[in-house]
Amino acid sequence: MTPTQVSTHDSEQDPRNENILIYVDGSLLAKQEAVVSVYDSGFMLGDGIWEGLRVHDGIFAFLEEHLDRLYEGAVAIDLDIGMSREALIHALHETLRANDMTEDAHIRLMVTRGRKKAPFQDPRLSVFGSTVVIIPEFKRASEETAERGLRLHTVPMIRGLPMTQDPKLNSHSKLNCILALIHALKAGADEALMLDVSGFVNTTNSTNFFIARKAEIWTSTGDYCMNGITRRKVIELCRLNNIPVFQRNYSLVDCYGAEEAFVTGTFGGLTPVVEIDGRRIGEGNAGPLYRRLKKLYQELVARHISSR
Ligand SMILES: Cc1ncc(COP(=O)(O)O)c(C=O)c1O
Repeated sequence: MTPTQVSTHDSEQDPRNENILIYVDGSLLAKQEAVVSVYDSGFMLGDGIWEGLRVHDGIFAFLEEHLDRLYEGAVAIDLDIGMSREALIHALHETLRANDMTEDAHIRLMVTRGRKKAPFQDPRLSVFGSTVVIIPEFKRASEETAERGLRLHTVPMIRGLPMTQDPKLNSHSKLNCILALIHALKAGADEALMLDVSGFVNTTNSTNFFIARKAEIWTSTGDYCMNGITRRKVIELCRLNNIPVFQRNYSLVDCYGAEEAFVTGTFGGLTPVVEIDGRRIGEGNAGPLYRRLKKLYQELVARHISSR
């Protein structure tokens, strides 16, 4: 029998989310009224970029890094966000205030090329300016999922070379990752493990991936995955705490034989992986290096928040 499937985005249902106010181009609207045009390039073509942010004590964690990635993505896809960094920060805080939200918040900040004057891909048809949406939700990462751990399934979809769709773009079009997840879910797993163009282990469909072997931490070279902010923090924490860490090529053989594996992302922080392709990883539970790094990461977030 397949065990219940879990996700790094598991959270308790929070009834407050029915009454949230969503920011749409300067207005704060009730959930049912927060809509965009069917001509919006994000809806029509997946033509936009986004960030997922966490809030603790009313403060956005690692906001500068998230905005750096967003504005860099905008330059890369030649999208004019149409709002300065200061204006965007103001909109984010306004959205928090309107929702009386200080804790357990997860924010999806989305920017698309905006409404088009005709349904076609040409970016010049987006003549009305960008669409900016901020969805704030009350969302606490499930401790049960963190304790139970994820079961990954390796899928045929890869995150590939930068000259197709650069895997570093946090784009609205997630079809590559969605197809990977569908494949994994149909195989009875929780999330998809994706390889790179050479067949080395790369990333999951929504998080970055790490293994622990003989007291060392290994993760991919970073060439084919999202430049995850949590990933970067974990690598820095390893270096600061004398935990050997390597960004390198490695294969599924190295994963199946690893003592531990875990994934990283803004929402869930660190989440353990207990099974890959039906092979139990280590003891099949959250291991000591994972627990140590998770604690170091939580302390880092707490220090960052209290320094703001
Ligand atoms: C494909 C993918 N990998 C990894 C991540 C994790 O990145 P971060 O740690 O910045 O949340 C994300 C988050 O947007 C993602 O979409």
